[in-house]
Amino acid sequence: MDVNTSAYIIVQAATQCLALILTVLSSFILLATSISIALLSNQIDSPDAALNWPDEGRIEFRNYSLRYGANLPYALRNIDLHIESGQKIGIIGRTGAGKSSLFKGLYRFVDQSNVTGDILIDDVNIHRLPLNHLRSNLTAIPQQPVMFSGSLRYNLDPFNSYSDEQCWKVLEDVQLKQFVQNHSAGLQMSISEWGRNLSVGQCQLINFARAILKNRKILLFDEATANVDQRTDDLIQTLIKNKFHDRTILIIAHRLNTVAKCDHILVLDNGMVVNYDTLTNILNSYQ
Ligand SMILES: Nc1ncnc2c1ncn2[C@@H]1O[C@H](COP(=O)(O)OP(=O)(O)O)[C@@H](O)[C@H]1O
Ligand SMILES: [Mg+2]
Repeated sequence: MDVNTSAYIIVQAATQCLALILTVLSSFILLATSISIALLSNQIDSPDAALNWPDEGRIEFRNYSLRYGANLPYALRNIDLHIESGQKIGIIGRTGAGKSSLFKGLYRFVDQSNVTGDILIDDVNIHRLPLNHLRSNLTAIPQQPVMFSGSLRYNLDPFNSYSDEQCWKVLEDVQLKQFVQNHSAGLQMSISEWGRNLSVGQCQLINFARAILKNRKILLFDEATANVDQRTDDLIQTLIKNKFHDRTILIIAHRLNTVAKCDHILVLDNGMVVNYDTLTNILNSYQ
């Protein structure tokens, strides 16, 4: 055997060895991925639900109670509610009635030891879902718009998941396209901390534009229009009708006209449901 032949055999053997190691390694990775997927789908009711959940946006509270500590009184008491896919529910009640607590329950912000009863979304008990999966499928818009310091584009699409064209489209939907076009930096215009270089109304419209882009089945508005002018409030009502018509939306409002067009009004008092009906029926019941 000459020097060239032995070198050739060594290279061949090394290649075979490397190929074997890579095959074994990829089998391990495949096995680990399969086990993780199996474990993840076990945490929820069915593997289908893991992929498409929630595809309808039905919400059910079953004898649901919540408190903020073992020694504190319940902020929500024995809530039983059925919210159908695509319904718009206006939630009213005085301060401390438990309105925001409903959202905290949906987001599972409160430890399970302080919760009794269940919340189901599309028949899946939210307690059985991985927390990030649950939360990433809900969109909440609070009273104070959430703004990041960075570009306007970053504020619309923090994970860079959508095209510039889609960003312009949602800016048009919320009637901010002209305003951004007039700015020399366009989508790259910089937003200062807390959105201080914009009005509260403009910041809230950017939050709505972000929600249109994200396109989730369930949206939760907690007094989202409390600090905006009437024109912006009217525009947001139009957006709810046109852009979110097939979304399930829970709207906490302090003004009755903000929830006037909702399918049902939920009246809370002291953590309990005191009325859940159409606005007309509720108004009639007080006459
Ligand atoms: N983080 C908290 N810790 C302790 N108690 C809280 C907390 N958040 C809310 N509460 C109490 O829970 C009750 C319901 O509050 P909340 O849901 O915020 O009412 P609403 O949104 O209708 O004003 C109130 O009595 C409030 O004081
Ligand atoms: Mg509140």
